[in-house]
Amino acid sequence: MAFRFPSELTELIYEQVLQLVPSRLRLKFKNQGLSKMQSLSFFAPGLLELSEAFTSERSARRLNYLQKPPFRSAYLLYFLPINYAKAFYVLEKIPPIFWKQDHYRFLDLGAGPATASLAFLAKLAKENPKASVEIDLVDYNKGILEDGEALVKKYAEALALKGKISIKTFQQDLYAFKSREAYDLVFFHHVLNESRVRNSFELYESLRVFCQGLLKASGLLMIIEPALHRPTRNLMLLRDLWIKETAFKVLAPCLHQEACPMLEAHPRDWCHFYVDWEAPAFIKDLSVLIKRDNRRLKLAYLLLSQDPSYLPKVLPQDFLVVSNPIHQGRERQSLVCGFKGFYRLNALEGLSLPHLKRGDLIRLNLKRPLSKTFVKKARLSFKKGDKLEFLKGSS
Ligand SMILES: C[S@@+](CC[C@H](N)C(=O)[O-])C[C@H]1O[C@@H](n2cnc3c(N)ncnc32)[C@H](O)[C@@H]1O
Repeated sequence: MAFRFPSELTELIYEQVLQLVPSRLRLKFKNQGLSKMQSLSFFAPGLLELSEAFTSERSARRLNYLQKPPFRSAYLLYFLPINYAKAFYVLEKIPPIFWKQDHYRFLDLGAGPATASLAFLAKLAKENPKASVEIDLVDYNKGILEDGEALVKKYAEALALKGKISIKTFQQDLYAFKSREAYDLVFFHHVLNESRVRNSFELYESLRVFCQGLLKASGLLMIIEPALHRPTRNLMLLRDLWIKETAFKVLAPCLHQEACPMLEAHPRDWCHFYVDWEAPAFIKDLSVLIKRDNRRLKLAYLLLSQDPSYLPKVLPQDFLVVSNPIHQGRERQSLVCGFKGFYRLNALEGLSLPHLKRGDLIRLNLKRPLSKTFVKKARLSFKKGDKLEFLKGSS
């Protein structure tokens, strides 16, 4: 089912945005709400500039781009809901046992307006509303941290979370952040891509010691990156280094701990997924204004932990669909990745594959043994008598 953006958060975001618009326009915007294109068009130029910076492969973004109110308000109105939906999608991948604690320490690095923390609160309200939480936000932008702090306090109230919620902000470079007490969950949401360290090997080195010190032995590390070619391939390489050199295991999206076969297979491929969501009406209007298609949200992500008890229980015949359907003549194929390898799945003997979506989890019960191979896109043919079962949909 498509994710629905919460209406109570829309209200809170708009209240926050109104504080950033010039006072002469505030009353007009307040009366019009988010329903009028005239008020939304006020945000379009800032939005367009930010959007171009975020979607280009160029990394040269101004260091403190959220300093200016037009950018900050555009971020709150547009990117916050989009990134919230992505964070919620990845939080859904956390094993249920994690949600049984009485207390959580959550660290949001490069927090911006606390996007990941807001999604965390919503997930907590669903799974364990009595738990208490300490949230630490780190960002070098003071204004956006203030927005984040205000939103977290109001949203926790709106969600009727019963445990104590405390929040601290740290205006500083995240790579210099230190804490005496470790965290249950550390989140990098759309921030690694902005690192001045360009290369995955250097980034890995700077993150390894840093993250191990910040996480409890049972802690989770979550990273979301824009699903662009370069940042995603960097993340794929980071994953390989991490699982080769440390005790961390990948809990999601991968079903195995081998080197990433897609990274090897072709320099053009990058492992990313989609979030199906029901965007709020104002996001649809803003997308029209800036000519962006946000009906499905693209993301690349990793969920890691050193605690083996979190590893998902997968069978050798389980596969994750990691491509859109590939049409070769009249044949439809899909790339699938699992414990048994990385395959180009097709159907033979007059059969055709069901419509497989990127991110679907499937079980393939074949009538013959399947050898393990992570070499380049080996063929796996679905034949008469084989069975394909959907375990989980992509969203
Ligand atoms: C694209 S925004 C993402 C914000 C938020 N995590 C989200 O997903 O909506 C990146 C944020 O990271 C912050 N940032 C980037 N590099 C940073 C660094 N080295 N130290 C602290 N903050 C950083 C920026 O100020 C900005 O608020």
